[in-house]
Amino acid sequence: MSTAISPTAYNYKVVRQFAIMTVVWGILGMGLGVFIASQLVWPELNFGLPWTTFGRLRPLHTNLVIFAFGGCALFATSYYVVQRTCQTRLISDSLAAFHFWGWQAVIIGAIVTLPLGYTTTKEYAELEWPLAILLAVVWVVYGLVFFGTIVKRKTKHIYVGNWFYGAFIVVTAMLHIVNHMSLPVSLFKSYSAYSGATDAMIQWWYGHNAVGFFLTTGFLGMMYYFVPKQAERPIYSYRLSIVHFWALITLYIWAGPHHLHYTALPDWAQSLGMAMSIILLAPSWGGMINGMMTLSGAWHKLRTDPILRFLVVSLAFYGMSTFEGPMMAIKTVNSLSHYTDWTIGHVHAGALGWVAMISIGAIYHMIPKLFGRVQMHSIGLINTHFWLATIGTVLYIASMWVNGITQGLMWRAINDDGTLTYSFVEALQASHPGYIVRALGGAFFASGMLFMAYNVWRTVRASNPAEAEAAAQIAVVGAH
Ligand code: HEM
Ligand code: HEM
Repeated sequence: MSTAISPTAYNYKVVRQFAIMTVVWGILGMGLGVFIASQLVWPELNFGLPWTTFGRLRPLHTNLVIFAFGGCALFATSYYVVQRTCQTRLISDSLAAFHFWGWQAVIIGAIVTLPLGYTTTKEYAELEWPLAILLAVVWVVYGLVFFGTIVKRKTKHIYVGNWFYGAFIVVTAMLHIVNHMSLPVSLFKSYSAYSGATDAMIQWWYGHNAVGFFLTTGFLGMMYYFVPKQAERPIYSYRLSIVHFWALITLYIWAGPHHLHYTALPDWAQSLGMAMSIILLAPSWGGMINGMMTLSGAWHKLRTDPILRFLVVSLAFYGMSTFEGPMMAIKTVNSLSHYTDWTIGHVHAGALGWVAMISIGAIYHMIPKLFGRVQMHSIGLINTHFWLATIGTVLYIASMWVNGITQGLMWRAINDDGTLTYSFVEALQASHPGYIVRALGGAFFASGMLFMAYNVWRTVRASNPAEAEAAAQIAVVGAH
């Protein structure tokens, strides 16, 4: 087979780069998660240094897992999916390369500045203005490459996965730019352009839609391509996928106030956020069912294919967290769950069970194709990884449910004379066993990523990327 790369072949280089970095950042971000989880068990691990305290490393964990690990997984898969479904090469190799290196630069910036204590203090938007501007520029370039490729597509139709990726790109740009409006007072400090309840509302409009569009819509794009591909079945209902898309993006944007129940935010806004969150169950489950039902007639494949297991179990966790979320958005439930570990459990049901599992499944699907191999080096190791990830997630969520409900009930227990039954420290002591189980669950999950790294390394070592590109080229030629 010829290994010459013609311009009609897909640009797999950038996909390979983002795919490998997904694994690298996954290990670092989750390793850091295990470290901060251990700090909550053994506070001595703070080492008495400002740079290594929980308060500074926690935002680094969230930035690494969401933007570095999750981001690279989304970029790798979206570039892979858009090229294959549009049957054309990315519109510009140099812009795609700028996207890759620019994004890595933003992450390195986060690794340096967050432990040093430079932060806007807005959750998930901590990066100070120079990095926030770089991020915005890189994001616009990503948008140009993605939509430019859609414009030059050779197919008439735009596959539904691209609709989800497209919404994720447009809305993330909007959220990032609006929430980061601020007045710089020095190179490393800026103040938000908003104040008081308005500031809180804009922050949680951003924060919730970071969940809705970054951690959900983009990954649904992934789901719509990789679940049918791995199951070798067409998507269950194309019509449902269109209804799913429009309902999801219309509703998500209104749900932010459920993060601000019982605050200075006007009561009507809180109730509106609650109502929209409850309605959000419908499109979320519509999407989950569409993915799950794609396996009709192919369920037996789950017995032998651990990659498909990753993808399907991720949908189960997606269904679970999108049932739990609307429930927690009900004000009376939120009065118990808010500020407790229940929220942390909910977050990781989505983050580990859904986001990480679907990304891992998609990367395992892509790596052999990107590196010219028939399959991953070891299917057995993928299976081991699957069980470590599943058990780790279950330990994490279950311990946080127990802790959260215990904390909520202990904090609100009142004696007949109106005094508190328990001090805060007593509730903390009751949480200690749960923190040990969570750290253990996290260690399970993170060690699975090490198996993945080894498996990817062995697959890549014996690879022939040029052949992968040539094969892709033939696929393009063959399709016309
Ligand atoms: C229908 C879908 C969902 C709804 C209605 C929902 C609702 C909620 C509610 C009510 C909270 C607690 C707010 C508080 O008390 O502070 C919350 C927190 C959170 N949820 Fe969800 N959730 C949904 C799905 C998801 C998914 C799929 C993920 C992850 C992939 C996720 C990630 C988060 C995160 C990160 C937080 C914590 C935010 C923070 O306080 O920093 N949610 N969600
Ligand atoms: C080995 C896996 C992981 C471990 C052990 C871990 C551990 C932790 C810990 C200890 C916290 C702080 C909780 C607290 O403040 O009480 C945290 C927060 C958080 N983690 Fe993870 N994490 C892991 C993986 C992930 C992944 C893969 C994601 C996203 C894709 C993620 C997203 C988050 C978010 C959004 C928060 C902030 C939650 C909030 O403010 O409500 N984590 N994690």
